Amino acid sequence: MSKKIKVNVIGAGVIGLTTALILQKNGYQVQILSEHWPGDFDINYSSPWATATWRANPNIDDEVVHGKISWNEFWKLSETPEIGLMRVKIYDFMDKKPELERDMWFKDLVPEFRVIPPEELPSGVEYGLSYTTVSLNVQKYLHWLLHQFTTNGGVSKKVHLSHIDESFYDSDDVGVVVNCSGVSARTLGGVADTTVLPSRGQTVSVWAPHIKTVYILSNRDSFTFIVPRESGEVILGGTMSIDD
Ligand SMILES: Cc1cc2nc3c(=O)[nH]c(=O)nc-3n(C[C@H](O)[C@H](O)[C@H](O)COP(=O)(O)OP(=O)(O)OC[C@H]3O[C@@H](n4cnc5c(N)ncnc54)[C@H](O)[C@@H]3O)c2cc1C
Ligand SMILES: *[C@@H]1O[C@H](CO)[C@@H](O)[C@H](O)[C@H]1NC(C)=O
Ligand SMILES: *[C@@H]1O[C@H](CO)[C@@H](O)[C@H](O)[C@H]1NC(C)=O
Repeated sequence: MSKKIKVNVIGAGVIGLTTALILQKNGYQVQILSEHWPGDFDINYSSPWATATWRANPNIDDEVVHGKISWNEFWKLSETPEIGLMRVKIYDFMDKKPELERDMWFKDLVPEFRVIPPEELPSGVEYGLSYTTVSLNVQKYLHWLLHQFTTNGGVSKKVHLSHIDESFYDSDDVGVVVNCSGVSARTLGGVADTTVLPSRGQTVSVWAPHIKTVYILSNRDSFTFIVPRESGEVILGGTMSIDD
């Protein structure tokens, strides 16, 4: 039998870890090269900060992009407590009513889907949806992904790469490099992708185990959210795009 192809994945964010796991499950010999790892908090490591509640944009037909999602398969993940998934109710508010050309593709996918009647909307809000969804404890999830990878024989190497070529020279038999460098793709030598931009925001974590509902407010220039986790923490956050 031919020797397994060696793959180096750059990055240990949600994209790098997931890519590494899938390649590994398909028989490749995978190593992750990364500066940041699950457990780290850094302005250049986005994954631990994600809002991570499932919602869909009414204007975008994700079903065409991603194919049919099986919600039952998704719920099954909550049976693995290490993932940190919690079932929640969401209120998704928008300051402007979206121009919808057809029914929302996810209206029959999520339980208890409802377009909120105008008289029930808070002031300044033109449109709102509510349904049942999930909130993901991102820190737990990143650790779980890494744990799967390591248990399956994956190799991790903490390193800062100045140039993408360094990931090929790491050993003499690297067959493939997969670039999952996130926002740092902007500064990584040999990549320097100037279309990648950070956005400005703030995230605060509070202890409020009685909160079990997600609230989202999207305006033209800002995005605000309240997202409880199964741990009892609640993530309060937002982004502001004016003068970003
Ligand atoms: C507050 C906030 C809320 C968000 N909410 C959501 C949400 O609800 N839903 C959603 O889909 N997205 C959300 N996002 C966006 C989401 O978090 C990111 O798109 C996602 O985490 C990016 O993952 P990544 O793996 O590509 O990058 P990252 O998690 O940033 O990982 C990049 C990895 O590459 C490594 N790396 C980069 N350059 C080098 C180098 N030169 N040498 C070595 N290693 C390197 C880093 O160390 C790191 O491990 C949110 C983001 C923020 C900040
Ligand atoms: C984040 O990355 C930028 C660009 O490479 C760098 O200038 C900055 O020092 C980094 N920030 C931290 C906290 O490491
Ligand atoms: C590397 O990945 C980033 C996103 O993670 C992307 O923006 C960039 O274009 C990629 N560069 C190359 C050369 O693949």
